[in-house]
This record gives sequence, C-alpha cells and structure tokens, in this order.
Amino acid sequence: MIDFDAIPRSALPALLKRMPKAELHMHIEGSLEPEMIFRLAQRNGVPLKYASVEALRAAYAFTDLQSFLDIYYAGASVLLKEQDFFDMAFAYFEKAAADHVVHSELFFDPQTHTERGVPIEAVIVGLSHACRRAHQELGISATLILCFLRHLSEEQAFATLEQALPYRHQFVGVGLDSSERGHPPEKFARVFARCRELGLHVVAHAGEEGPPAYIRSALDVLKVERIDHGVRCVESPPLVQRLARERVPLTVCPLSNVKLCVFKSMAEHNLPALLDAGLVATVNSDDPAYFGGYVNDNFAAVFDALPQLGARQAWQLARNSFDASFADEAHKARWRAALDKTFDEAGQAAR
Ligand code: HPA
Ligand code: ZN
Repeated sequence: MIDFDAIPRSALPALLKRMPKAELHMHIEGSLEPEMIFRLAQRNGVPLKYASVEALRAAYAFTDLQSFLDIYYAGASVLLKEQDFFDMAFAYFEKAAADHVVHSELFFDPQTHTERGVPIEAVIVGLSHACRRAHQELGISATLILCFLRHLSEEQAFATLEQALPYRHQFVGVGLDSSERGHPPEKFARVFARCRELGLHVVAHAGEEGPPAYIRSALDVLKVERIDHGVRCVESPPLVQRLARERVPLTVCPLSNVKLCVFKSMAEHNLPALLDAGLVATVNSDDPAYFGGYVNDNFAAVFDALPQLGARQAWQLARNSFDASFADEAHKARWRAALDKTFDEAGQAAR
C-alpha cells in the first residue's frame, strides 16, 4: 500500500518529474521549436515571414485556438523531407525521455503536408523511423495516431486515409483535430466508421472550445475510445457521470488551455474537479513548443497552481495515462509496477 499521506508537498516537484508516465496528446508538429523552424527553413530554402527566432517567439500570444493554428500551420511549412520529420520527432523523444515518458502516442497531421505537395510517405516513414530509434536508443515505446483536419471535408479525410493505407501498420489509430467550432464530430461519421472497420483505434478532440454536445457526438457517432481535451464536459453533469461510468479517458493539456484562453489562469483549471468526479484524466503537452513546455512542465505548472493536487493525484494521473494508452496489457502491467515502486519509495523515504 502506498502511503500517500506520508509524502510531503516538498517532495512533489521531484516526484512529478521522475514518475514514469505516458503521453497521449502531443501533436508532433507542435514540438517544432523556433530554432528548429529556422534551421529547417534554411536547409530547405523555405521563406519565413519572421525575421528571427525572437520575432517568431514574440508572435506566440494567442487569443484562441484559431489564432494558434494559423501560426502552427505556418511553422509546419518548413517540413519537406523524410529527414525533417525524423529530426523533429527524435528531438521530441529526447525531451520526453528526460521527462521519464515511457510510452508516447504521437499525433501527426498528414494533410498539413500533403496539401503542400509533400508525399505522405516522407511524413509517415520519417516519423516511424524516429519511433523505432526512440525505442532502441531511449527505451521509449512510441506509436503514431493519424489526425484528420476537421476544417477540411470528410471527402478529403477519405482521400488521406486512402493515401495512408499502404503504411497502415505504422500507425495505431486516427484522431480529429484543428478548428473545433463549426466542425462537429458527426461531419466525419463515415470516415471514422471505415477506420473502425480497419481495426484502427479512434480518438477525437472535443470539448476544448466546442460544447459538451461535441463530446457526446464524438462518443455516440464516432464511437471514440478517448476524448482529447474534453474539459468543457463539466458544463453537463449527466455527461460527466457518463464519462466516469464508461471510463472514457480525457487527455487534458493544462498549459495549452491557459495559452488558448480556455481558462483565464492555471488556478482556474478544472483538473481537480475532473479527478474528483472519478474521470480518467491525464496530463499532456499538446503543442509543447508553442504553449510553454513539455509534459513535466505541464505537471509542474498545474500542481504549483492548484493546492488540491497532491501525491495521490500525481499517482492517479500517471496511472490513468497507462490505463488510457493503446499499449498491450503486458507493457501496462510493467509500467504500473514501476509507478507504484516510485511512490512506495517516496512514501518510505518520508517516514
Ligand atoms: N486543438 C485542435 N487542433 C490542434 C491542437 C489543439 O489543441 N493542436 C494542434 N492541432
Ligand atoms: Zn491537441
């Protein structure tokens, strides 16, 4: 039995860092740091409308999701070759390994690249090569989730799925991202049905900026296994009860939510309420290069701002990240045991 009450608050920052965890909501294009954007722009001869790294970073003052997406797509325009996708992903895995991430399910947006004439092969082969290297060299179990851009049509999503099928074994599932308002999940009902038939896992962004009804239709129409963000579920108590009862995980991204003004400040974030309601909530970085930090920065920020969160919640969030992952049971069992050991030792050291 882990003695959570024995672990003092002063031990939390180090524990949050060193506990093993899975990251389930990270857009790989959102890990492109300004320095790498400039390096790749130069390598590929792509013009940028920002004069310097500092000028680009200064533009990261977002007012909502769309104001972020405009800059995020501009940043991704420097990615052209398989090597670029490899370099970007491996740089993320090095940071993830330092944060004690043992398993990562990376989102990628093929349409952001194929629309610019980049072959889907360069995207998927570059990223999956990085996943293999992350496993061999860093011990991270890494997989890919292909996201459809919801501001585009379902027909375009079908065309993307068709292009990706020769690489079917390189990704474990599909997701839905980009501009949420005005693009409800049901717009993608048929393509998600096809993906389920193909045996792919299915997830969707819902209830970040969009209403609880979008969470409901992601569950009922798309039949998703996890909700990405989902923080607006609290506006519907019956929906919260359903998410708890059906153990539908929410991949929450605290720094993203504050940067995109979903919450005015971290102190107002509803993560403690989600956990109190018994939801399978997890902590993730979304777009770490744009929102002020990687997964451990997210843990640090949310625990720092919310005194209701303590050692028990830290353990629960890491445990939820394994439970919610698409890894096999043998891996999950190993990670759960490593997590318990970390907390057992912290409890004993404090006694
Ligand atoms: N929401 C929707 N689409 C996205 C996001 C996000 O937070 N990040 C990258 N694409
Ligand atoms: Zn996201």
